[in-house]
Amino acid sequence: MHQPQVCIIGAGSSGITVAQVLASRGVAFDCFEAGSGIGGNWRYGNDNEMSSAYESLHINTSRQMMEYAAYPMPESLPDYPDHRQIAQYFDDYVDHFGLRDTITFRTEVTRVAPVGNGYEVTVRSRDGGEPETRRYREVVVANGHHWDPRWPEPSFPGADSFPGTQLHAHYYRTPEPLVDKRVLVLGIGNSACDIAVESSRVARSTDLAMRRGAHILPKYMFGIPTDRLTDSPLVKAPLKVQQTVMAGLLRLSLGKVTDYGLPEPDHAVLHAHPTVSQDLLSRLGHGDITVRPTIDRFEGSKVFFADGSSGEYDVVVYCTGYKVTFPFLGDEVVRAEDNHVELYRRVVHPDHPGLYFVGLIQPLGAIMPLAEAQAEWIGDLVTAAGRLPSVREMRAQIASYDQALRKRFVASKRHTMEVDFHAYRSEIARERKESRKRARR
Ligand SMILES: Cc1cc2nc3c(=O)[nH]c(=O)nc-3n(C[C@H](O)[C@H](O)[C@H](O)COP(=O)(O)OP(=O)(O)OC[C@H]3O[C@@H](n4cnc5c(N)ncnc54)[C@H](O)[C@@H]3O)c2cc1C
Ligand SMILES: NC(=O)c1ccc[n+]([C@@H]2O[C@H](COP(=O)([O-])OP(=O)(O)OC[C@H]3O[C@@H](n4cnc5c(N)ncnc54)[C@H](OP(=O)(O)O)[C@@H]3O)[C@@H](O)[C@H]2O)c1
Repeated sequence: MHQPQVCIIGAGSSGITVAQVLASRGVAFDCFEAGSGIGGNWRYGNDNEMSSAYESLHINTSRQMMEYAAYPMPESLPDYPDHRQIAQYFDDYVDHFGLRDTITFRTEVTRVAPVGNGYEVTVRSRDGGEPETRRYREVVVANGHHWDPRWPEPSFPGADSFPGTQLHAHYYRTPEPLVDKRVLVLGIGNSACDIAVESSRVARSTDLAMRRGAHILPKYMFGIPTDRLTDSPLVKAPLKVQQTVMAGLLRLSLGKVTDYGLPEPDHAVLHAHPTVSQDLLSRLGHGDITVRPTIDRFEGSKVFFADGSSGEYDVVVYCTGYKVTFPFLGDEVVRAEDNHVELYRRVVHPDHPGLYFVGLIQPLGAIMPLAEAQAEWIGDLVTAAGRLPSVREMRAQIASYDQALRKRFVASKRHTMEVDFHAYRSEIARERKESRKRARR
C-alpha cells in the first residue's frame, strides 16, 4: 500500500461504505473510529458514547431499502430487523470485504485543518498517548448526525425547577425509568412515537405533546412494507402524483390521523420527514396515550400546554431531534448553524477541495444505499476518474437545492438535508456520468 492519501472519519454505516469503495479501487486510506467497534448508532451501548439506539429499536426503513447494493442483507432477516441484527450486518460487511484491519479503533479525530492542497488531521487514541497529526489530500467526514441531542432552545419557562426527570431521547435506553410514572413525551418524529408507545405499556399515564400534526405512515400496508409498496414506477411520477397516491393509500388503510385524536397536519404528506409507526395510532385508539399541544411552561411538577390545559408529570422525554456537529472542524471551515451545511449534491464542500461529507442526508428512505452511491462518486473524484464542475456551478446547485427544500418541506431544523430516496440516487448517478465526462475533457 502507498502512503494513505485519504482520511475517513468514522466507521459507522457511512464510513464503512467509503472504506469498501476506496479499497476496491486500490486507494490507500486511514479510517479512524472513536469507538471500539463499527456500526456507530446501530451499536447499542456503543463505547463511543454517541449511539442513540434504545433496547427495542428496529429499523423503520425496510431491509430491502436499507441494504448496500454491494452486499445485500441475508434473506433470513425479517423485513424490519432490530439493532443487533443491523449491527451484525455491518460487522459482516466489514469482514466480507476484509476492511477491519484498515480501521483504527478507539481513535478520535480531534482536528481537521486545511493546509496547502490538503488537510492536517489530528488524532488521539482513547487509550492514552500523545495526539498525532498526519497529512492527507482528502478527508471524508462520516461522523453521523444523530448523536448530539437538540434540547428545546430556549428551554421552556420553569423547566429548570421541574422536580421530576427530564431526559432527551438520545439518552433513552429502556422503559424501566418510566414504569408507573406520569410521562410526557414531546415531539412527533420517530423517537417520540417509539418512546410514547413503549411508555404507554408501562407508565401510569403517557401524554404526547407536539407543536404540529404529522402524517403517520404504518410499517406495513396490505401486508407489504410501506417503502416497498411505494418502490415502484410511482417513484418516477411527479411529486403531486406520489402525494395523491400516498394520501389515498393512507386514507384507505388507516383513515385520518384526526380520527385517532392527533391534530390535523399543517402540511401535505411527503412535506415532512416521515413519521413511521405501526403502533402509535392503535395506542391512541386504546386511550393509552393522550395527545397534547406543545409545552408552554412548567410550574413545579405541572406542565401547562399551548391551549391552556395542564398536567402533572414525573418524567418529560424531549424527542426534539439532533444537531449537526463537527467538533473537529473550525467554524471558519464549516459551520452547521441550525443544521444547515452548504454542500454540492450534499457531499462536496465547494470552498474546500477534497473535503467530502457522507451520509449527511435525511432521506425519505434509508441512508445506507445513498451513502454507498456517494462513496462511489467520491471514489471517482479521488482517483481523478471524475471531476467537479466550477465553484460557481456548485454554488448554483446548492442554491437551487435550498430553494426547493424551503418550498417543499415544513420549516424546521430537521428539514435542512431532506432528499427523496430514488430521485437522489438517480441524481448521484447522473452526476457521476457528468463528472467522468468532465474528467475526460
Ligand atoms: C434512533 C435512530 C433510529 C434510526 N433509524 C434509522 C433507520 O431505520 N433507517 C435509516 O436509514 N436511518 C436511521 N437512522 C439514521 C442514522 O443516522 C443512520 O441509520 C446511520 O446511523 C447513519 O450512519 P453514519 O455512519 O452516517 O453515522 P453513525 O451511525 O452515527 O456513525 C458515525 C461513526 O463515526 C464515529 N465518529 C464520530 N466522530 C468521530 C471522530 N471525531 N473521530 C472518530 N470517529 C468518530 C462514531 O463513533 C460512529 O461510529 C436512525 C437514527 C436514530 C437516532
Ligand atoms: N428506526 C426507527 O424506528 C427510528 C426511531 C427514532 C428515530 N429515527 C430516526 O432518527 C432521526 C431523528 O428522529 P427524532 O424523532 O429523534 O427527531 P426529529 O425527526 O428531528 O423530530 C423532532 C421532533 O421534535 C419536534 N421539536 C423540535 N424542537 C421542538 C421544540 N422546541 N418544541 C416542540 N417540538 C419540537 C419537531 O417538530 P418540528 O417538525 O415542528 O420541528 C419534531 O416533531 C430521524 O431520521 C428518524 O427517522 C428512527
